[in-house]
Amino acid sequence: MSSVTLTINGQQVTVPKGTSVLYAARKIGVDIPTLCHDQELTRFGACRICVVEIPGMRNLPASCVTEATDGMVVFTESEAVVEARKTILELMLANHPIDCLICSKNGACSLQNYAYRYDVQGNAFPGEKHNYPIENENPFIVRDMNKCILCGKCVRACAEIQGRSVIDFAYRGFDAKVSPAMDLPLGESECVFCGSCVAVCPVGALSEKAMLGKGRTWEVKKVRTTCPFCGVGCNYD
Ligand code: FES
Repeated sequence: MSSVTLTINGQQVTVPKGTSVLYAARKIGVDIPTLCHDQELTRFGACRICVVEIPGMRNLPASCVTEATDGMVVFTESEAVVEARKTILELMLANHPIDCLICSKNGACSLQNYAYRYDVQGNAFPGEKHNYPIENENPFIVRDMNKCILCGKCVRACAEIQGRSVIDFAYRGFDAKVSPAMDLPLGESECVFCGSCVAVCPVGALSEKAMLGKGRTWEVKKVRTTCPFCGVGCNYD
């Protein structure tokens, strides 16, 4: 397989042709933030938090969907990149409850982590916020669409990991949201509550009901057991 050599933040790295800039950076320990990217799912390029600066390119490309090329020069934390990331985070937080103190994802939320990393307060764009009711009727998953950042990881996990496509993007513009068909609650949809969507959600939009009030993510130990949801015996960790 042919390879390409590029320079990231002054450091040379050689990767197989076809590798994204994001993975080339990871190979040398350069941490580029991501929200919509997951190595188990198809590339999406939606959130733009992973933008980088590549001299010669007019815009800041998303590193997760940009292929590394021979001789490419990349800056991952330049002034322009940091400014863009701050604005992206401010825009996400403009329509977010920012109730981190009582959020089940507090301390394990990527949006919170990046807001901290880039010193973003969430008050740059005051305006209308969603006020969706929290969906809590089914026994397994709590959905709080007020916290959704439309990264689409849950949509892809449902389709690509579970092969079901129960949820998808619905509506447009400010009203865009992730929802089962006809905007039904999960409990009335074809959802089998496999938990794939909860596992990939980077924020507090999807939570496992059984875990609420039982401890923070880092306080919980994983054990090999039989999945309690359906009794098939998948032996999920
Ligand atoms: Fe690259 Fe979202 S992580 S666009």
